[in-house]
Amino acid sequence: MKIITTISDMRTYRQEHKHGSIGFVPTMGYLHEGHMSMVESSTKENDRTVVSIFVNPLQFGPDEDYDNYPCDFERDRKIAESYGADAIFYPSTEEMYPGKRTISLNVIDRTDVLCGPSRPGHFDGVATVIVKLLQIIQPTRMYLGQKDAQQVAVLEGLVADFNIPVELIPCPTIREEDGLAKSSRNVNLTAQERKEAPFLHKSLKLAEEMVGEGERDPEVIKQAITAMLKENTSGTIDYREVLSYPYLKPATSNDEMWICAVAVYFRHARLIDNSILTITQKGES
Ligand code: PAJ
Repeated sequence: MKIITTISDMRTYRQEHKHGSIGFVPTMGYLHEGHMSMVESSTKENDRTVVSIFVNPLQFGPDEDYDNYPCDFERDRKIAESYGADAIFYPSTEEMYPGKRTISLNVIDRTDVLCGPSRPGHFDGVATVIVKLLQIIQPTRMYLGQKDAQQVAVLEGLVADFNIPVELIPCPTIREEDGLAKSSRNVNLTAQERKEAPFLHKSLKLAEEMVGEGERDPEVIKQAITAMLKENTSGTIDYREVLSYPYLKPATSNDEMWICAVAVYFRHARLIDNSILTITQKGES
């Protein structure tokens, strides 16, 4: 497995493999099974798989966890290699952002809900780094986790708006045995918070059951999610939402799909989770 730290070496690598397909898994490192399940899919579907590890300063707000985002490159290198990645693109911040920028991307749709309001500028930063990574790596396919469903929705918009020739592959959320979605940030939970954290997923399961039993009032579902989170966690709810999917507009009973999504602030980690539900219409079984 190759470790590539400069943009020019990454371009050379792409040139050397110009006739084959490249699957690309963008990450901020501290790899876990969520990331690696995408590497596994990519290795099956492409000639080469490139994982990027870059903690992108542009997508963190001033009070967020950029400075204590977990990192351990040696550990990541071993994990990525054992799952069959062919190369890691691991640039420095200076390599990616060498000087004053001249253009700023501003995501104008799908960001007024969920993580958008509490993380101003976050999706602009994600869009910027992804455009750069796509230009540098020029992959055939890019693998993205549905755990960050809003990120997938925004990046689908980016790729469509800018006619970027890459296929986006959304991948299912990988969970711990108790249902907690795997996340690099889980290591920042206290032991007590770690016990409480699976209630994010449990509250979404409850929402799913309610929808399965015919509940179509988003407010009723949101109240049930709130009650479960308040009773069982010490965290502060950032949001719990029921929206149409993939458009992220207020949910109505005519929608084909809904996303139920939650975000909870614990002391040193903000956790998110979601589930995407198919809404059966009257008369459908
Ligand atoms: P990061 O949080 O490291 O996540 C990298 C990719 O892994 C994202 O596509 C994310 O949705 C996916 N992922 C995270 N946890 C997952 C889980 N439990 N199951 C399945 N997939 C999971 O998301 C980012 O980094 C950054 O915003 C990035 C896209 C790299 C841009 O900087």
